[in-house]
Parts: sequence; structure tokens; C-alpha cells
Amino acid sequence: MSIVIRSLGIAVPSRVLTNADLEKMVDTSDEWIRERTGIRERRISDEPLSVLAEKAAREALENACVSPDDIELILMATITGDYPLPAAACLLQERLGIKEVPAFDLAAACSGFIYGLAVAEGLSARYSTILFVSGEILSAVTDYTDRSTCVLFGDGAGAAVLTVADGNISRRELVDYVICADGTGWRHIHIPAGGSAEPPTERTISERLHYIKMTGRDVFKNAVKRMEEAIVELLKRNNLDISGVDLIVPHQANARIIHTLCERLGVAKEKTYINIDRYGNTSAASIPLALYEAERDGLIGAGSLVVAASFGAGYTWGAALFRW
Ligand code: COA
Repeated sequence: MSIVIRSLGIAVPSRVLTNADLEKMVDTSDEWIRERTGIRERRISDEPLSVLAEKAAREALENACVSPDDIELILMATITGDYPLPAAACLLQERLGIKEVPAFDLAAACSGFIYGLAVAEGLSARYSTILFVSGEILSAVTDYTDRSTCVLFGDGAGAAVLTVADGNISRRELVDYVICADGTGWRHIHIPAGGSAEPPTERTISERLHYIKMTGRDVFKNAVKRMEEAIVELLKRNNLDISGVDLIVPHQANARIIHTLCERLGVAKEKTYINIDRYGNTSAASIPLALYEAERDGLIGAGSLVVAASFGAGYTWGAALFRW
């Protein structure tokens, strides 16, 4: 059983936070941010995730000519739903007026899109039309007094209508995927308070423990290593050489991570899609945003072989192969 991405939709907030804006907030510079990360600006939402998710989902539904009534399962990949409880997918269900179908979230951080595709494929024998939204409001968990993290993150959402591949509908087929995790890496990107380990108190708030804490260097090294491993394994499983891949769409965490990955894989930088300059790291939204724009810009079309790769908190990572 394989699934296809029938359509994609995206939504990003209209408010732009530039490097110049950040220079006024923390001790940083446009030059440092561009050189160390490749980011020029990111989008910041004044609204909760369900608003962006609805926009992205409506576009995907329209592009697929699928009505909300046709959706048999709603899946969201996010760590920044509107509320800790319930699942963001249920809020999306209400917003779209979707009838009683299963709806739930999965938390795989920046690997959310690839993990979500894997879950959707696993459930596709029972639910043949799935609405999958992968998105984050990272600005809600970003400490804008911490220069080592606040320059990196942005908000966005990407939606996909997923259906079972058949003879007539085989565009954007998920050919294969690899997903994995190493829980010993959890400390390197985490939000210390607000969960059951440290329920929120006045102290946790004043110590800013409800924001993302990250050990940048460890994350950087592991991101390169794990994305490379996942891509190599995926290609091997499918008897493919990297030269046969038309476009690599890596998670947009840092342009230097992507460039180092290219060196390790022995491919030109031009073989990867990069939009981190405009959005920063949008976590679960980054791969669908990039796939959407790569298709819109004509970099991939019918028949292209596309490899997406991700790495994120957990640590989690993965790679997916598409026949576009
Ligand atoms: N502006 C200016 N200086 C900054 C800065 C900023 N925004 N952030 C950090 N610095 C400083 C540090 O304080 C340090 O100064 P010091 O040498 O005086 O101590 C110096 O820059 C180098 O810091 P370092 O952390 O070694 O920089 P780096 O080259 O590793 O870049 C990251 C930092 C965060 C950009 C980089 O490690 C990274 O991208 N890591 C991966 C992050 C990621 O992908 N997270 C999400 C995973 S999905």
C-alpha cells in the first residue's frame, strides 16, 4: 500500500521579523545571523496554530478538489498546538466542520512531517483520505531574550491531502521512508517546564523555563550525521544513487547544516532546496513549506525523484523518497 500527496497547502503569518528587528531585541547582528545560519527573516504569528492550520488545510483541500466531508482521518504534527490539551487536530476538525472522524496529534518536532507520512501510510488501509497538517507557532515557545535560539525560529504550517495510490492517481507518491529516534539526545533541545516533570509555577515562569533550551553545537553535529545516514539508508533500500535524485529537500534548520550535508553526500548545494532565509526554522512546517515552494517554482514536476530529510528534538530524524 502506498500513499500519494494529492495536494499541498501552506500558510505563513504576514508579520515579518527581520534580523534588523532582532538587533534591537538582543545582542546580535544581521551579519552574524546570516553567516552562521543563512536566515534573513522569519514570520511571527499573532494567532494560534489552528488559524494557520485551517488556512493551509483549506488550500490543500481546494487544490485536491476534496471536500471536508470526504476526510476520513485528521492528523497533525506539532509541539505547539493551541492548548496542551486537547489535540490540535480536534480544533482543526471543528474549524473545518469535519464530521466525526479520528483526529490526533503526533509529537516528533522537526521530523513531524516525515513521521506523519509514515503514520498516515500505516493507517491508509482503513482511512483512504487523510488530512495531514504539520505546523508550529515556535514563537510561542521561543525566548526573545536568548540570542542563541531566538534568531533561529519562525512560524508556519503546511497541509497535505493524502490518498491511497491507484493507477489513476500516482503523482507525488511516497515511495519509501526511514524514521528513527535516539532518546538519549532529548536534553539537547527541550522545554524544561510546563510538562509533568516541572508543572508551571511562578518560579518556572520567572526562570523562563517554558521556552526552548538548546545545545546548538551538539544539535548541529547530529543533524548533519543523522540526515546523512537516513538519506544513505533510504537510497540503498531503493537501489538508488544520489545522482539519480532530482532534488533534496532537507529540514531548514541552518543553511550551514545543509551545506555540510551536501559535502558529506558529495552533491552540489544547488541540488538542495533552501528557503530558510525567508522563514527560519519552522520545525514540522519546514519540509511541506519547502516542497510546496519547490513545486511552485518549477524545481520539481511530474516524475521528479525527491528526497526529504529531517532532524529534530528527541532526537528524531527521517527521510522520505517521493516520485513527484
Ligand atoms: N548573535 C551573536 N552571537 C551569537 C549568537 C547570536 N544570535 N548566538 C550565539 N552567539 C555567540 C555565542 O555566544 C558564542 O560566543 P562566544 O564564542 O563568545 O562564547 C559564539 O557566538 C559561537 O557560538 P556557537 O554556539 O559555537 O555558534 P555556532 O556556530 O555553533 O552557531 C547555532 C550557533 C545555534 C546557529 C548553531 O549551533 C546551530 O544552528 N545549531 C543547530 C540548531 C538547530 O538546528 N536547532 C533546531 C534543530 S531542528
